[in-house]
Amino acid sequence: MLILLSFRFLSFLAMNSSQSYLSGYSILVPLSYLKSCSLIGQLPKDLLNLRELEDLVMEDNNFDGPIPDWLGEFEHLKTLNLGVNNFSGSIPTNLGNRSTLITLDVASNPLTRVMSEKNLAKLSKLKLLAIYSYSTLKLDFDSDWIPPFQLEGLVLGFSNPNLPAWLYTQRSIENLFIWDSSFEAPDKFWNLVSAIADVQLQNNLIHGDMSNVLLNSTYIDISSNCLKGGLPQLSANVVFVSLSNNLLSGELSPLLCGHNALNGKSSLLYLDISLNNLSGGLTNCWKNWKSMVVLHLGRNNLSGKLPPSLGLLSNLTSVHLHKNKLYGEIPPSLQNCRSLLVFNVRNNQLSGNIPDWISHGVLALQLRSNHFSGKISPQICQMSSLIVLDIAQNTISGHIPSCLGNIKTLLLNNVSHHKLSFEFPLFYSSLISDDNLELVTKGQVLEYGRNLHFMTLIDMSSNNLSGTIPPQMFSLIGLHSLNLSNNKLAGEIPNEI
Ligand SMILES: *[C@@H]1O[C@H](CO)[C@@H](O)[C@H](O)[C@H]1NC(C)=O
Ligand SMILES: *[C@@H]1O[C@H](CO)[C@@H](O)[C@H](O)[C@H]1NC(C)=O
Ligand SMILES: *[C@@H]1O[C@H](CO)[C@@H](O)[C@H](O)[C@H]1NC(C)=O
Ligand SMILES: *[C@@H]1O[C@H](CO)[C@@H](O)[C@H](O)[C@H]1NC(C)=O
Ligand SMILES: *[C@@H]1O[C@H](CO)[C@@H](O)[C@H](O)[C@H]1NC(C)=O
Ligand SMILES: *[C@@H]1O[C@H](CO)[C@@H](O)[C@H](O)[C@H]1NC(C)=O
Ligand SMILES: *[C@@H]1O[C@H](CO)[C@@H](O)[C@H](O)[C@H]1NC(C)=O
Ligand SMILES: *[C@@H]1O[C@H](CO)[C@@H](O)[C@H](O)[C@H]1NC(C)=O
Ligand SMILES: *[C@@H]1O[C@H](CO)[C@@H](O)[C@H](O)[C@H]1NC(C)=O
Repeated sequence: MLILLSFRFLSFLAMNSSQSYLSGYSILVPLSYLKSCSLIGQLPKDLLNLRELEDLVMEDNNFDGPIPDWLGEFEHLKTLNLGVNNFSGSIPTNLGNRSTLITLDVASNPLTRVMSEKNLAKLSKLKLLAIYSYSTLKLDFDSDWIPPFQLEGLVLGFSNPNLPAWLYTQRSIENLFIWDSSFEAPDKFWNLVSAIADVQLQNNLIHGDMSNVLLNSTYIDISSNCLKGGLPQLSANVVFVSLSNNLLSGELSPLLCGHNALNGKSSLLYLDISLNNLSGGLTNCWKNWKSMVVLHLGRNNLSGKLPPSLGLLSNLTSVHLHKNKLYGEIPPSLQNCRSLLVFNVRNNQLSGNIPDWISHGVLALQLRSNHFSGKISPQICQMSSLIVLDIAQNTISGHIPSCLGNIKTLLLNNVSHHKLSFEFPLFYSSLISDDNLELVTKGQVLEYGRNLHFMTLIDMSSNNLSGTIPPQMFSLIGLHSLNLSNNKLAGEIPNEI
């Protein structure tokens, strides 16, 4: 039988806990491939008539009841995928005797009973194991158990306070996903992780100190956990790292300036350490990270000026430095960042003129709540792709330039093709991460993510703008939100509105 290992390993944002994470390891066999068919009830024992069955893919239905123990009677069974159903109870122990199994996926089922080595005892060929069950499954593996298998992919979700000890016997894992689990991650866990290329540990309650950790995975997402201590170091292999929404503190330098082995050879494209408790300055170590495309450091306690060396990151497309204590002017070296699409420094103490040299291709410029002053230079109208221009709550004076009426994207009522997402190829799939911004519209602060590209906004409110409103503004028929309040504007509202 032809086996098609179609490893669709999921764009990371498309994931949520109702998916079966190893679903891609599936085979194309019409009879046994009954994925997403809205089937209900218990699995019919008549299936046993298919004695030669090698692959049973029943993922994403609504089967309930226990996982039947007669499944263990299929002598040739290689793939059993029962993920995303409503199976309860446990995994029958006689499946643990089904030594032909290569894939065992029971992820996203409300399994409640204890799972132990008996469930996996003879599975010497097993490569892919997915046992995830909304933190209801209790693992009770003997701490000395050495599994007969070496896994390549593992999806785990469990209610124990500790990782199963056998995890440390696995030397071939390429993809590790842990969901909805709470455990202390010792240094040896991070050593294990450093040999795994694709690591997705987001949205757990993983605690531990990262100060002595060296991350080495190509792709590693540890966002939304309880990690503390200083920042880990990154090896030159890391392409994507998210440490967002943890309790990490200290300075950026251990991560950015730390590792000797790096030798300027970094492959890093994506760095997200937003929503932590970082302090200190932005460092001068950017020359090590020239490949960087996405830099998210918002919502920390970073201070100091933007270092001119940031301009060395010529491929930057998305920069979020909002809600820190950054001050000083935006260095002109950022002119080198010709690929910038999103530049968000809102809620800092930055000053000087609004940079009018920012890449003409920029889509969103958010300078809100700083100390920017001076006039709005007509150069800003050259940013012909702008969909968000948010310079509210500064002390900008002078007139509103009438050339704003020329911004091309806002002249049309179809901006939706400017999707603000970041995509790069990853092993077997591609990674897509949508950009996001908080915008004030209709008096509310709303977060725009996937839908950001549908939004068009000019917010110049709470400045010191004077003169009249240029009627040209109202040729911007694609503009959804315009706020000019709290200024010193005079005259009539043009009829063109
Ligand atoms: C899942 O099965 C339980 C009984 O085990 C039932 O109460 C529940 O409604 C089922 N859930 C769904 C979504 O069908
Ligand atoms: C597993 O197989 C062994 C023989 O190889 C047998 O003794 C045992 O009862 C089987 N266990 C289950 C749960 O079927
Ligand atoms: C780091 O990753 C590389 C390639 O991804 C791998 O060859 C190497 O063994 C890893 N290092 C450690 C310490 O795991
Ligand atoms: C944040 O870091 C500072 C030191 O930089 C520390 O004093 C403070 O306790 C930390 N806050 C939290 C919530 O971890
Ligand atoms: C910037 O991106 C281009 C195109 O992807 C790539 O060829 C180039 O090497 C990148 N620059 C750096 C410094 O990584
Ligand atoms: C932020 O950093 C300053 C020093 O720059 C420190 O005084 C303050 O306590 C820090 N705030 C938090 C919330 O850690
Ligand atoms: C946007 O609309 C204009 C005029 O309606 C049309 O010519 C253009 O092709 C549209 N662009 C896209 C990308 O849909
Ligand atoms: C316009 O901006 C002002 C000041 O920044 C704010 O108070 C008001 O809520 C905004 N109006 C709307 C409709 O969003
Ligand atoms: C506001 O603009 C006026 C000129 O219109 C100028 O005299 C004044 O200094 C400005 N105020 C601030 C705080 O920039």
